[in-house]
Amino acid sequence: MKLFILVLLATLSFGRIFNEIIYDPSAPTYPLDMWALDGSQVPFTSHSEDKPFGSYLQMTLDFQPFHELFQQVNQTTGTLKSRGEAHITVITPPEFDRILKPAGITIQEIEAIAHRHRIQQAWLRPVCLGRFKGTLPTKPDQGGFLLYSVVVKDTFNQLLRIRQEIYKLYRKRQGQGALFEAEAFWPHVTLGFDRRDLFIEDGIYKGTNYCFAPIKMNV
Ligand SMILES: *[C@@H]1O[C@H](CO)[C@@H](O)[C@H](O)[C@H]1NC(C)=O
Repeated sequence: MKLFILVLLATLSFGRIFNEIIYDPSAPTYPLDMWALDGSQVPFTSHSEDKPFGSYLQMTLDFQPFHELFQQVNQTTGTLKSRGEAHITVITPPEFDRILKPAGITIQEIEAIAHRHRIQQAWLRPVCLGRFKGTLPTKPDQGGFLLYSVVVKDTFNQLLRIRQEIYKLYRKRQGQGALFEAEAFWPHVTLGFDRRDLFIEDGIYKGTNYCFAPIKMNV
């Protein structure tokens, strides 16, 4: 019995150690409006232009709460540019242009899947404020970059499910499995950057690994 409790405690504490988010010790806690990640009242925005980087899938959010957070973060750096809108990319432009489109999938088919799965109604919660500050591993000699995003948890995997449905369609169209991974998905809202946004193609992963500061929800 004692051994059992000991093993249980050890397992629980190991779990905590391994799951714990590592923040920057100097980072403050940032507030975010508690409705910031509720997209249910926000209209879906289509991005379906027939040109490179013109087609992708996003869940659209209200900008105002992210603008408030942006201003707080920019107060500490003063160098940030804002996109002027807030969204979560679900299918990236390169995924569409390089992988899905060549397999014969249209952006309209992708949007139909997104609508069927009520993309705007996804339940999300903030994980942390993510930051990258440094030179890129892919372009180490081109100077520094600064980037902030809100890392998001797709609470019930509703956005992931959309990617999984797209993956099924992709396989039906004879797409090569190795080229599209539904789970290679780190939902986030880009907040601001000094030079440009950074992506997986730049070597930047926006999961809990990217966490810089805690976020607390403001009621
Ligand atoms: C960020 O802060 C700087 C310095 O205060 C300011 O000049 C700039 O306009 C701010 N950026 C935005 C997008 O508000």
